[in-house]
Amino acid sequence: MESTCTEILSQVTDRVLEITINRPQRKNALTMAMYSAMAELLNTAADSPEVRAVVITGSAGVFTSGNDLADFLGGSASGDESPVFQFMVALYNFPKPVVAAVNGPAVGIGTTMLLHCDMSFAGEDAMFQMPFVNLGLCPEYGSSYFLPRMAGHAKASELLLLGKKFGAQEAVQLGICNAAVSADEAITQARLAAEELASRAPAAVRLTKQLLRRATHAEGLQWMQEEGAQFQKRLNSEEFKEAATAFMEKRPADFSRFD
Ligand code: COA
Repeated sequence: MESTCTEILSQVTDRVLEITINRPQRKNALTMAMYSAMAELLNTAADSPEVRAVVITGSAGVFTSGNDLADFLGGSASGDESPVFQFMVALYNFPKPVVAAVNGPAVGIGTTMLLHCDMSFAGEDAMFQMPFVNLGLCPEYGSSYFLPRMAGHAKASELLLLGKKFGAQEAVQLGICNAAVSADEAITQARLAAEELASRAPAAVRLTKQLLRRATHAEGLQWMQEEGAQFQKRLNSEEFKEAATAFMEKRPADFSRFD
């Protein structure tokens, strides 16, 4: 199962597809080519009897710093046809179990994609953040739908309105991750869980995953599309331009001139 992009690595071992995000010089920031490659891998794996479970991980002590901000500033599409949305839907609808191993920063979609994985293991070095408002944006990938349901309204507000960073232990308390482990153990635990899942009766596993998600699946998808449309509008806002330019210029954003 070949990746179409050198910054996304893929390997199938014992019916487990491992997808590695590998762009360490940009803290694994995700480009359109990377989203396309991941979407294609997932869509192929969905129908392939060679794959019964998937592991998603990062490289070099980084999960992902989220969407490449230069891509966003350059006006890369994020509508329904965009590689971002194709990836989101491919993971959201993926019929087999997905296990994530998180080390280092997991920012933006780095955190929100975990809401759609079935299990995840966080190294003690993991750092989670959904800094959408800090960037003049709004929540994406169904996070404004799923997070309040998982973590309660107060906590979801704190994490989405203030964009606060949190660590592995808190990710476990919030129900985003299964376990906080040592940095080295995150990938080991994820692989073990995926191997175990791959050894179970495959139709029973797929049906159980489907049943676990059934109550929220259709509404969550519709919500994601509505969030996506708002997010796309925010990408053209002056607030986002100020925030992304400030990041590139390594200075704090100044929102004082906005109404
Ligand atoms: N898009 C584009 N470039 C990014 C990036 C992103 N999302 N995240 C990091 N980079 C770049 C940095 O600009 C820097 O480039 P430089 O070497 O040319 O200066 C390089 O990657 C290393 O990042 P740096 O910020 O120096 O690493 P750090 O270890 O101090 O911090 C993060 C890591 C992930 C906490 C920090 O880079 C960050 O907050 N990134 C932005 C996350 C974000 O807002 N994502 C979008 C969410 S919607």
